[in-house]
Amino acid sequence: MSKVTTSTFLKKKLKKEKITILTAYDYSTAKLLDQGGVDCLLVGDSLGMTMLGYEDTLSVTMADMIHHTKAVVRGTKNAMVVADMPFMSYHVSVEDAIRNAGRLIQEAGAHAVKLEGGSQIKDKIEGIINAQIPIMGHLGLTPQSVNAIGGFKVQGKSEAQAQKLVDEAKLLESLGCFAIVLECIPAKLAKIISESISIPTIGIGAGVDCDGQVLVIQDLLGMYTELTPKFVKQYAVLNGVIEQAVKSYCDEVKDGVFPTEAHTFKIDESILEKLY
Ligand code: KIV
Ligand code: NA
Repeated sequence: MSKVTTSTFLKKKLKKEKITILTAYDYSTAKLLDQGGVDCLLVGDSLGMTMLGYEDTLSVTMADMIHHTKAVVRGTKNAMVVADMPFMSYHVSVEDAIRNAGRLIQEAGAHAVKLEGGSQIKDKIEGIINAQIPIMGHLGLTPQSVNAIGGFKVQGKSEAQAQKLVDEAKLLESLGCFAIVLECIPAKLAKIISESISIPTIGIGAGVDCDGQVLVIQDLLGMYTELTPKFVKQYAVLNGVIEQAVKSYCDEVKDGVFPTEAHTFKIDESILEKLY
């Protein structure tokens, strides 16, 4: 597989080939996912919940994002790495937004950044794209707006909301975003949006007609059970596997069964005899 770039995304949409994205937050997981052939690794600010134990993504900082993005980049060969811009890193001023996006590229090694929202951050998106930094948009349920929305809820169900989403997707396309995440919106609305723009849509809780899909890796592996949204499919239940392994280790240490000779280093007996 060759390196995935923003042009790969557009080519895949034209060829009607689905785009695969998973979140990654560390070196060893990134390496596994990259070798598994996923097109793109998203260093999502969901790391605030899955890696750092916060209840939402609002506490995640630029320092957190840079730290985790560096680790993911070191584990990645072919996949494209996209880093989320955290809450408040692109809300205050255009200058701030460009500088922070630039840090994720220059310091951390990401290939693109993701921002939540449309018209309300239009000037920031323009500034970042003018700095030659590719942007993945994010519409629908935007978790950084959790307090404004009043919880994690499906978006775009009313006519006004649905029309607004279509308009925002067209705006992001016209501003030059290379893809748009659609989170938690009705599948038929996601289909209409996907058909009405030329850049790929990446769905999470947005149905099968998006041009690609993204999932949080801990959700896919059954390792994060604090929230279990309807759109998650567990492809493995690693929680149980890990629990069992830890229990076996504790039992074997307590019983003196581990370590065995195979795990142990030797010394010449004649040296031991000379010790006092
Ligand atoms: O932070 C994240 O993991 C995301 C994806 C769910 C799209 O933004
Ligand atoms: Na995110």
